[in-house]
Amino acid sequence: MKNVHVAIVGATGAVGTKILEKLTERKFPADSIKLLASKRSAGKEIKAGGKTYTVHETTPEAFEGIDIAFFSAGGSISEKFAHEAVKRGAVVIDNTSAFRMDPNTPLVVPEVNPQELANHSGIIANPNCSTIQMVAALQPIKEKYGLNRLIVSTYQAVSGAGVEAIDELAEQSKQFTDRSEIQAEVLPSASAQRHYPIAFNAIPQIDSFDESGYTLEELKMINETKKIFNDYDMSVAATCVRLPVVSGHSESVYIEIDQEGVSVEDLRGLLKNAPGIVLQDDPAAQLYPMPLYAEDKDEVFVGRIRKDLNEPTGFHLWIVSDNLLKGAALNSVQIAEELIN
Ligand code: A2P
Repeated sequence: MKNVHVAIVGATGAVGTKILEKLTERKFPADSIKLLASKRSAGKEIKAGGKTYTVHETTPEAFEGIDIAFFSAGGSISEKFAHEAVKRGAVVIDNTSAFRMDPNTPLVVPEVNPQELANHSGIIANPNCSTIQMVAALQPIKEKYGLNRLIVSTYQAVSGAGVEAIDELAEQSKQFTDRSEIQAEVLPSASAQRHYPIAFNAIPQIDSFDESGYTLEELKMINETKKIFNDYDMSVAATCVRLPVVSGHSESVYIEIDQEGVSVEDLRGLLKNAPGIVLQDDPAAQLYPMPLYAEDKDEVFVGRIRKDLNEPTGFHLWIVSDNLLKGAALNSVQIAEELIN
């Protein structure tokens, strides 16, 4: 693909701004980058890499001449405009859940299943942030030893819920220290019937519940993991929790592999050499991943690797990554890089 013209839908949002930053930082060979958002933001200017970009309203016509369109403005905007972009010749890299489980849409983490990119028909889905960092870390283990069971509990940052949630955490923290009444309007989700404070709290609800008792975020992790690994027999369970952390999702992951006799050192050796993974695992030196130190970093950090004390094929891991980067913007840009290569 030559003379690549790029658009970012949701360019003023938490992920959209990071997509622009990553395209610039990684010197993505774009001839032009068009920033799109809602009508409210039209005319706003955003600076990146020494250039000033003007934001335009998202309309079907805005995609004329665009080759690659990143979407990160929520599922309803993707549903409304992604096909308009494809109709005009663009490949859409969609960061929402709108098309992830569509059998005709590849769901791609470049370190895990880049081969799926060959099968797209205009739209490529970027997985859920919590799913990306987990499958990227587990892929080398799955490849070498097989993986049949996975139980994950997440500790997720507010930035995953957008700019409004970041602002709400800051305001509530101030309200808490000022001893004034805490106002909660954004989390667990803007559309929720009840809102709870996130400052100094932990909310075991991300997205809404379905009749199974799981939240949609948990079901996304379960279903997307199976699709990315192309293993629908794998046993996967998830509990997703929001914490008062600005950026960086953490995950406690329990896995059962197909082989006995594998040691913690075997897993450490694999992860030490895996692409995009940083092993931070030395209990004696108190070395383990933490979200505060993963912020603005591209890699997925893995530590606290332990053998289960009862199950000979069971291991526990602690996986941390910046949810806005590998969990969203970086993975999307890596997909675009794979496409043009
Ligand atoms: P805007 O800033 O104009 O509202 P976040 O995930 O951080 O909350 O960001 C959401 C992104 O989605 C923002 O860039 C926001 O733009 C964009 N957005 C919201 N509503 C629309 C819309 N109707 N059309 C296009 N973009 C939208």
